[in-house]
Amino acid sequence: MTLGRLRPRLEERFASRIDSVAWESFTRRLDRHFASLFEPLYGMYGGEYDFFYHVETIVQTIAEMWVSRPQTLKGLDALREEDPTWFRSHRMVGATCYVDLFAGGFAALEDKLPYLKELGVTYLHLMPVFRTPVGEDDGGYAVSDYRDVDPSLGTIQELEHLASLLRSHGISLALDFVLNHTSDEHPWAKEALEGSEERQAYYRMYPDRTLPDAYEAHLQDIFPDDHEGAFSFRPRIRRWVWTTFHTYQWDLNYSNPAVLRQMTEEMLFLANLGVEVIRMDAVAFLWKELGTNCQNLPHAHSVLRALSAAAKIAAPTVALKSEAIVHPDEVRKYIGADECQLSYNPQLMALLWDALATRKTTSLRLALEKRFDIDDDCAWVNYIRCHDDIGWAFSDEDVTAAGFDPRSHRRFLTHFYTGRHEGSFSRGLVFQEDPKTGDARVSGMTASLAGLEHAIEIEDPDEVELAVRRILLLHGVIITIGGLPLIYLGDEIAMFNDYTYESDTNKFGDSRWVHRPPFDWRRTQDRYNDESPIGRVYQGILRLVQVRTQDLAFDRAETSLVNLGNEHVFSFFRNQGEHSALVIGNFSEHPQSVEAKRLRSLGLRKTLVDMFAGDVIMANRQLDLAPYQLMILATGRTQAV
Ligand code: GLC
Repeated sequence: MTLGRLRPRLEERFASRIDSVAWESFTRRLDRHFASLFEPLYGMYGGEYDFFYHVETIVQTIAEMWVSRPQTLKGLDALREEDPTWFRSHRMVGATCYVDLFAGGFAALEDKLPYLKELGVTYLHLMPVFRTPVGEDDGGYAVSDYRDVDPSLGTIQELEHLASLLRSHGISLALDFVLNHTSDEHPWAKEALEGSEERQAYYRMYPDRTLPDAYEAHLQDIFPDDHEGAFSFRPRIRRWVWTTFHTYQWDLNYSNPAVLRQMTEEMLFLANLGVEVIRMDAVAFLWKELGTNCQNLPHAHSVLRALSAAAKIAAPTVALKSEAIVHPDEVRKYIGADECQLSYNPQLMALLWDALATRKTTSLRLALEKRFDIDDDCAWVNYIRCHDDIGWAFSDEDVTAAGFDPRSHRRFLTHFYTGRHEGSFSRGLVFQEDPKTGDARVSGMTASLAGLEHAIEIEDPDEVELAVRRILLLHGVIITIGGLPLIYLGDEIAMFNDYTYESDTNKFGDSRWVHRPPFDWRRTQDRYNDESPIGRVYQGILRLVQVRTQDLAFDRAETSLVNLGNEHVFSFFRNQGEHSALVIGNFSEHPQSVEAKRLRSLGLRKTLVDMFAGDVIMANRQLDLAPYQLMILATGRTQAV
């Protein structure tokens, strides 16, 4: 096979529905990416007797979805084919929110556009919006219908309208594709519960404990608070169903090619709504094999590569973003022009918090020196907080090299951020503490974790000042370091933890809800008030966004980590041709300095311009940094038009 045999059959099938010019653009992409589609499919299903039938049905699905793709999106496809790394532009500034908590619904969110534009947002990730079970739904990550939205948010037409409105304002919409599992209320699961064997084969289910026990011997519990092990018993069908997360989230069975075909269609449905970045949820768990921990298996990558090829053929506008919160070496493997072009950067997130707690930046620097550099066609999504917990997802090797024992260091960090450590400024909550291993993760809003909640409570203006600076320091790094920064909306107005979730039966027990508060629009009224911490944080973030978007040193530029010889100070260069900037951050509450000769050896002059503060500074003998100060030094020709 195969393309030679498939093409005429496809043409025959779609001939009456398309014009020849458009068809030519489709077949050009099909020719170009067919090998990238075929190869992972062959790897996964090459042994099936009807393998070629499955290839054909998948290609037909891709063609079908392209045929039904709205014309305006096909126009955008043509533009993006010319500029496939559009997401690396320094104009890209991301934000994320829950539609209900931020605005109420899709229509109401349209009214919030001026706020997003003021902040400079050009990428908006809306947390899951699709239909889920009533009550517990893992914050939307238990999808009951990939084609219909949660009715309390509005209609699918309103979502489509929102996507197009955002696009016309230069904002790319990002949505989740929860592809590892469906809810147990999805029609496929319901049919499986009614006994349909075809649908039961969509999931992984077993009549007795033999295989579940054999698998579990190598698995790690993901949500130990919810259930032990990875399986849940469903008495109605007398089956053990694979449920990595909650018992109502059923893992899909990608070893069944029909599932991949179906999910290709669901993903392209999202693309056809006008979604430009698709967040591939929980990708580490997509494939299972006996005798392994069933995380990050080679065929998890095959699934993604096949979906990526499908998107490239049917909807080249789209970029895929991987959500793999795993060991940093594994995180990187999901990133690639032919897999996920974007990836969360959990290592940076975890190590920024590490540096704030320890006041030392060595682990951060060592880890990024090894792992920050990725393919030029791809980009990191850098974040401080997201809707999930903070897991200590860094490599043992890097923290060991910085002089810490990884096990006790992780425990220290959890204690520090949950306020159990003496002298901690932080107000986080523990998440999914595993009694067997002692592992735990942390929940909390940025401002609460960084000390502002505590400082305001004890009414200490000096502590308030330090906390504001910590928040800006973290944002300064994610906004300038290279990749797409993602602001967790609410952080820009320094919102605190919301403890009310404890009295909601659907949320109680899942401490992640502490950092999912309703957006407090009243606080935004204070955003221009330089005297208030809210205003200081907001104005600071705004300034950082301006520096990023106005300065060519941040446009698709290289990042080089710099060791300035002071372990409390983190630094990196951004270089793009003749444009460059040096970012320097002091991660301690004490003043720090850097020897001027170090700066000179990097080619810096004695007189420096700090673009963040808007100051000219002299560094004759040394450069002085105030507690938690962030500097963005202009070191080359910079201003963009
Ligand atoms: C991802 C989501 C998380 C969810 C899990 C299961 O990790 O970010 O919120 O609980 O997937 O879908």
